[in-house]
Amino acid sequence: MNTSLLWLYFISSISSEIGCRNLSQLAELPETHQILRQTCRDYADRELAPIAAKLDKEHLYPTKQIKELGSMGVMAMEVPEELGGAGMDYLAYSLAVEEISRGCASTGVIVSVNNSLYIGPILKFGTEEQKKQWITPFTTGEKVGCFALSEPGNGSDAGAASTVARQEGDEWVLNGTKAWITNSWDASATVVFATTDKKLKHKGISAFLIPMPHPGLSLGKKEDKLGIKASSTANIILEDCRIPLGNMLGPRGAGFKIAMQTLDSGRIGIASQALGIAQASLDCAADYAHKRIAFGAPIGKLQAIQFKLADMALAIESARLLTWKASLLRDSKKPFSKEAAMGKLAASEAATFCSHQAIQILGGMGYVTDMPAERHYRDARITEIYEGTSEIQRLVIAGQLLKEYQP
Ligand SMILES: Cc1cc2nc3c(=O)[nH]c(=O)nc-3n(C[C@H](O)[C@H](O)[C@H](O)COP(=O)(O)OP(=O)(O)OC[C@H]3O[C@@H](n4cnc5c(N)ncnc54)[C@H](O)[C@@H]3O)c2cc1C
Ligand SMILES: *[C@@H]1O[C@H](CO)[C@@H](O)[C@H](O)[C@H]1NC(C)=O
Ligand SMILES: *[C@@H]1O[C@H](CO)[C@@H](O)[C@H](O)[C@H]1NC(C)=O
Ligand SMILES: *[C@@H]1O[C@H](CO)[C@@H](O)[C@H](O)[C@H]1NC(C)=O
Ligand SMILES: *[C@@H]1O[C@H](CO)[C@@H](O)[C@H](O)[C@H]1NC(C)=O
Repeated sequence: MNTSLLWLYFISSISSEIGCRNLSQLAELPETHQILRQTCRDYADRELAPIAAKLDKEHLYPTKQIKELGSMGVMAMEVPEELGGAGMDYLAYSLAVEEISRGCASTGVIVSVNNSLYIGPILKFGTEEQKKQWITPFTTGEKVGCFALSEPGNGSDAGAASTVARQEGDEWVLNGTKAWITNSWDASATVVFATTDKKLKHKGISAFLIPMPHPGLSLGKKEDKLGIKASSTANIILEDCRIPLGNMLGPRGAGFKIAMQTLDSGRIGIASQALGIAQASLDCAADYAHKRIAFGAPIGKLQAIQFKLADMALAIESARLLTWKASLLRDSKKPFSKEAAMGKLAASEAATFCSHQAIQILGGMGYVTDMPAERHYRDARITEIYEGTSEIQRLVIAGQLLKEYQP
């Protein structure tokens, strides 16, 4: 094991005591978090950035890297140490996902889904027994989980989900199709949302834990995506899929609440992924602006290029502060839904904006795979869609805002 991994173990053992709990820390990260950020940055520069183009082109799952990130603690950041996790806070998680995504955005979403969408709801709503069974690794630390909420006929309108769970004796029997499930081809377990009582609409939805593979559960084809191609996305099809009654997560009918609270936190992860893509776009463009000569001088001397770089840096820094604020509020156990939605919206728009500008600054070189700019452009696009589209983030923000102005 190299020294940087050892550093991470050191941080994980003390971070829970030091923590990062107040907003003045937005100006300067605590030392522990600075070290963590640098460790993840070094790992991404060394192990991810050099292979990201190949993973993208060949649609390869980064098996070795995910395992290494697992041994660094990054795959189960918030899980207490007694359950086998790193015992860190959400600000630390946000920093890690940004740095990893800066190297490879597909790896970033794999990390984010295991942490926020799979572990998150089990940690918050699971019984002690469920935590031991589903969080502490089944056998080794090599497995990842997934989160199955969306369906072919309803994504944004998740409360309309039509997958059913019927009780038969001491089992739940699930029927239905879940769509677009990240990590599905590589996962060893999933949190699935299904309705136990259609008449109750969203209040009839419950959450269930299903091991993978499992009889009655099958996978659709791997989706052929625009970006994040190293992560798998597919339908999960449930046909008379039987699980023990004890596999229900949280109370009956609490599924919609569990899903929405999980997504509040998950949005901090996607915001961080988007920040990593945006930052990588700026890094690539600023470096190129120094080196590329046009009309006898580096293009970085041109004000038109400088203005683009300034706007990119501004978008990134604003979105990063919002995302950190959401993390700090969450770490202080204060309400953070509005800030998480703002962070996700700002960061994903920063990612699509910056990756667009980076291609412009690179000219022809922006458009070919010799440079990473075209991959950033493709990877950025999804961040405005999953875990709530930009339109849905605006609805969440406006909903909270209008509550604050209630006469
Ligand atoms: C690569 C990828 C990975 C994904 N991973 C997962 C996963 O792991 N787990 C999971 O459960 N899901 C996952 N999803 C699904 C994703 O969350 C949904 O695609 C997303 O929520 C949008 O749902 P939809 O595709 O059904 O679009 P729709 O809901 O049909 O939306 C279509 C358009 O209408 C707009 N719209 C819808 N409702 C409103 C409204 N009320 N007001 C204004 N505009 C509205 C939307 O913003 C969008 O522009 C993934 C999707 C992709 C593409
Ligand atoms: C916030 O953090 C700073 C620096 O860590 C510290 O000096 C300050 O006292 C803290 N403020 C509160 C209100 O806890
Ligand atoms: C993903 O999270 C689970 C649950 O904590 C953990 O057991 C697993 O080891 C994590 N995956 C990896 C690759 O570390
Ligand atoms: C939700 O989507 C499913 C198909 O995935 C469809 O059968 C169902 O009618 C949709 N629900 C509503 C309320 O539109
Ligand atoms: C699930 O669907 C099958 C047909 O595919 C049907 O025979 C069965 O009764 C359904 N089960 C439930 C629990 O709805």
